Amino acid sequence: MEEFQPVIVAFCCHYCAYTAADMAGSKRLHYPANVKIIRVPCTGKVSALHMMEALRKGADGVYVAGCLEGDCHFRTGNTRATKRVAYVKKLLDEIGIGGERVEMYAMSAGMGEVFARTASEFTEKIRRLGPNPARVGRDNPGCATAACS
Ligand code: FES
Repeated sequence: MEEFQPVIVAFCCHYCAYTAADMAGSKRLHYPANVKIIRVPCTGKVSALHMMEALRKGADGVYVAGCLEGDCHFRTGNTRATKRVAYVKKLLDEIGIGGERVEMYAMSAGMGEVFARTASEFTEKIRRLGPNPARVGRDNPGCATAACS
C-alpha cells in the first residue's frame, strides 16, 4: 500500500523562517516536498482564517514559522501569531479535526537545520494522524467532521 503523503502548508516569515528555508536549501539539507511554503512579511499577517482556509482547501496540516521571541521586525507579530495558532488549535479540537494539525514555530534566519528538522518532524506527525477529515477536494467531496454531519 502506498504511504499517505500529507499536504503541509507552512506560513513562513520573510525575515526568519523563509530565509532559514533558503539556508536549508543552500546547505542541501533535506526536508519533505510535502511542505508548501507561503512567504509572508511577518507571521502577524497570518490570520485564523488563513489557517482554516488552508485546511479547508486541502492541507492536512498547517504551521506558522516566525522569528524568535523578541526578534520580530514588526515587534509583536510573532506573539500575535502564537495567540492565533492557539485559538485555531482550540477551534479544531472543538469541531473534531484536532488542534495538533496546526503549530507555531520560531527560528532565526540562520537556522537552516532547524527549518529542515521542523518540516520533517511536522510532516511525520501529520502522516501519523492521517488525512484531514475537513478538507474539500482531492479525494474528499465534503467535510466529514462531527460539526458538518
Ligand atoms: Fe518575523 Fe514578525 S518579522 S515574525
